[in-house]
Amino acid sequence: MTNLDLYAKAEHLLGIEEATEALYDLYRSELDDKDVKTLLDVGCGRGGFMQRMISDGIKCKGIDLSSDMVNACKSQGLDAQCIDIADATGSYDAIVSIFDVLNFMDKDALLSFLESISKRLNDDGVFIADINTLYGFSDVAEGTMSKDTEDEFLCVEAEFLNNELHTFFTLFVKNEDESFTKYHDKIVQYFHKIQIFQKLSGLKLVEKQTFSLYDEKDKTLLIFKKK
Ligand SMILES: C[S@@+](CC[C@H](N)C(=O)[O-])C[C@H]1O[C@@H](n2cnc3c(N)ncnc32)[C@H](O)[C@@H]1O
Repeated sequence: MTNLDLYAKAEHLLGIEEATEALYDLYRSELDDKDVKTLLDVGCGRGGFMQRMISDGIKCKGIDLSSDMVNACKSQGLDAQCIDIADATGSYDAIVSIFDVLNFMDKDALLSFLESISKRLNDDGVFIADINTLYGFSDVAEGTMSKDTEDEFLCVEAEFLNNELHTFFTLFVKNEDESFTKYHDKIVQYFHKIQIFQKLSGLKLVEKQTFSLYDEKDKTLLIFKKK
């Protein structure tokens, strides 16, 4: 199992449903006044945002590097693929990467990711993504939490050092014979300065809004147009 598949297995225990819904509302309102007929959701997770946009009549496709996430999308009849954006085809009026997806990449990976995004946008297309602010990493994301249910126990320990958030996930899942299987892995998230996004060859940063998702000014929404 990859570390992203472990995240997929643990996500429902993290208590992020309300924040996720708030982000979906924000993205939807940003896309509302744009003429969007086709949308690519990169890092689509379980496909919650695509479900919303499909109900607005928009043709959606999702990609994610976690096969567990992609399978969850497919089980709801959504069009999703477990591929890297570099291998994606087609072109879209809008592309979104919702809830920290850009923070999952270091700077080099991020720059090639953004280059691939620009290749998948139609002329005049828009790319919207959010990133954690320094405050979001150091004061909101850092720390420990645990959650247990009858069949699962999750412990998350996150440490922010040198602009990297190292999050250790330990998940115990009860088997049919009452024994437990333990999964343990680490996800690294990277803080990105806004300046990185202002010097891209294929995308122009047209708007940035810092907002509060969990706490004061913990996230920045970035809106790009294809150059
Ligand atoms: C915090 S989750 C957000 C999921 C979804 N966007 C949502 O709002 O529910 C981040 C997702 O990004 C995916 N991911 C991380 N790096 C990625 C990459 N380079 N390309 C595609 N997906 C990626 C993870 O597997 C995970 O599903």
